[in-house]
Amino acid sequence: MAKLSLIDRFHHWRRKRRWDKQYKKGKWDYLANEREAVRYHKIIEYIKTYGKAQPSIMDLGAGEGVLNERLKDFDYSQFTNVDYSAASIEKAKAKNLPKAKSLVADIHTFTPEEQFDVIVFNEAFYYVHLDLRQEVLDRFIDRLKPNGVLIVSIYKEGQDCWDLINASPKLKQLNFEVVNTDRETTYWKVGAYRAI
Ligand SMILES: C[S@@+](CC[C@H](N)C(=O)[O-])C[C@H]1O[C@@H](n2cnc3c(N)ncnc32)[C@H](O)[C@@H]1O
Repeated sequence: MAKLSLIDRFHHWRRKRRWDKQYKKGKWDYLANEREAVRYHKIIEYIKTYGKAQPSIMDLGAGEGVLNERLKDFDYSQFTNVDYSAASIEKAKAKNLPKAKSLVADIHTFTPEEQFDVIVFNEAFYYVHLDLRQEVLDRFIDRLKPNGVLIVSIYKEGQDCWDLINASPKLKQLNFEVVNTDRETTYWKVGAYRAI
């Protein structure tokens, strides 16, 4: 964060307030809709295919905890939802999801003490400031347990983000797919990576 100019930090703070307002108004309720479900299904498929049995999972930019909600409690040993919008985390907490922890924290600065079997950036990595993306990526790769899996979902192209992730010498790509919907312009790319 110290890397960011005062004006960038101001924009960052303003964006966070905007997320809070939008979550309070229910603007993001649609993330639980069926059209969105396909990308959560792909992430869950990757968790089950490449993660260990009953992994510990951290979801960065988790919003209201929709991914956590779409998993069965026997699919994980522990689930940590992280978002800097207090309003979204309140909604996640209100769901009382089993074996779940929901924290208000900023991906730009947050370093969890523990390591995880699976870390997910589900429609969140592209919100990280351009100047901080490498540092953030490296910090969270470091929070993966040995053999841990990083899963990233990005709406549409996200080419800069994929270039950065694919160039990391600390990651090996396990899978990468385009997830389409009934709408030609609505699609996501989802990648799974093993920490090496
Ligand atoms: C498009 S929403 C995705 C929510 C959730 N991952 C999902 O797909 O259901 C993006 C989320 O990233 C969060 N976010 C953006 N920048 C963040 C940051 N610097 N630290 C933590 N969360 C952030 C927003 O508050 C928002 O909840």
